[in-house]
Amino acid sequence: MDHFEYRNGQLHAENVAVADIARAHGTPCYVYSRATLERHWHAFKDAFGAQPHLVCYAVKANSNLAILNLFARLGSGFDIVSGGELERVLRAGGDPGKVVFSGLGKKVPEIRKALEVGIRCFNIESEAELDRINAVAGEMGKVASISLRVNPDVDAQTHPYISTGLKENKFGIEIGRAEAVYVKAAAMPHLNVVGIDCHIGSQLLTLTPFMDALQRLLALAERLQTQGIKIHHLDIGGGLGVRYQEGQAAPSPADYMAQLFTDERLRQYEIFVEPGRAIAANAGILVTEVEFLKMSEYKNFAIVDAAMNDLIRPALYSAWQEIIPVVPREGETATYDIVGPVCETSDFLGKERDLNIQPGDFLAVRSSGAYGFTMSSNYNTRPRAVEVMVDGDTVHVVRQRETLDDLLRGEQVLP
Ligand code: LLP
Repeated sequence: MDHFEYRNGQLHAENVAVADIARAHGTPCYVYSRATLERHWHAFKDAFGAQPHLVCYAVKANSNLAILNLFARLGSGFDIVSGGELERVLRAGGDPGKVVFSGLGKKVPEIRKALEVGIRCFNIESEAELDRINAVAGEMGKVASISLRVNPDVDAQTHPYISTGLKENKFGIEIGRAEAVYVKAAAMPHLNVVGIDCHIGSQLLTLTPFMDALQRLLALAERLQTQGIKIHHLDIGGGLGVRYQEGQAAPSPADYMAQLFTDERLRQYEIFVEPGRAIAANAGILVTEVEFLKMSEYKNFAIVDAAMNDLIRPALYSAWQEIIPVVPREGETATYDIVGPVCETSDFLGKERDLNIQPGDFLAVRSSGAYGFTMSSNYNTRPRAVEVMVDGDTVHVVRQRETLDDLLRGEQVLP
């Protein structure tokens, strides 16, 4: 459920007409709905009931400060993967004591900063990282709380580029070796073993892979217990999929948790989740204007002012996102590929879409709130889009459109 719907013949974001936003702020423009973001965050929170838990929003999905700040106000935790994301969480007023730090290439200054501000846990992805964090903590006279990200070798049944829990993937510590690595970690003076972590992939539409991974985590926790290593929390990662297309069925956070908790053994642990997409994707749209229509015998193209640099998911993963008119017209449709101005054949937002459109019309690419702006670039020297957040009747600019000066800052010609 989201708060983008047609009212009086035109698309609204909460109580605001999207066409008015596009006219006032220009296009391409990311539009987020506060009510939708909060609703989706609460869906995770509420699914836990009385179970001790921590919802760690995956910052990479959408790291705009205004969005992080909304979650911080709700008392959210955060899953970060860089020093940059940590800085964002801190500036947004997030509690460092609720931050988990994932990612496989943590650098010394990033580790130092995380220890300085007192994050909740490092999710460690290799034995070499274990040594590095132990050494940095030792130098600082601190003890780092850690969990190992284990790679449970389950098939997430999702796009191969966003599948992370197979043994051939670069992520995590092979589950067969995890016990030995835990024993090593437990003996290190500047580490405190507190949990087990796993993240098997993104956009999962079935719960079976999560259950398979969980069984392996629970069995590992039990084996560790017999070795005298006490596990306090299980971090089950992110990955819950969303509906991009009518008719696609995505389990809700409530379905997901109900399924996980069919295994009663889970109750003894504090449960961490790291959702990104399931919270943010359907809380945002990308609004673009049709520049030209190019019709031919073979194909019709609608050339729009948003491109793969603004939203790379279609180009990178062949992702399908719904494209709808902001103000629908009556009458006949034609079939178009919706393409941007970038000089790449993969620069499309959607293919073979039936629309009745004219130059100057606005289109909305739905489900763009996650992995939209955060993956955008300046390719073709295109300034990144403006981002606005609608809150009821009000529109707030939460990131100004980049200017060419912003974009060229720091570049220099030779003397
Ligand atoms: N935790 C870890 C360690 C992750 O690597 C990720 C996502 C998440 C949590 C959040 O996963 P989510 O709940 O959003 O599925 N750019 C791709 C998605 C990449 C996901 C990377 N890791 C896309 O646009 O589909």
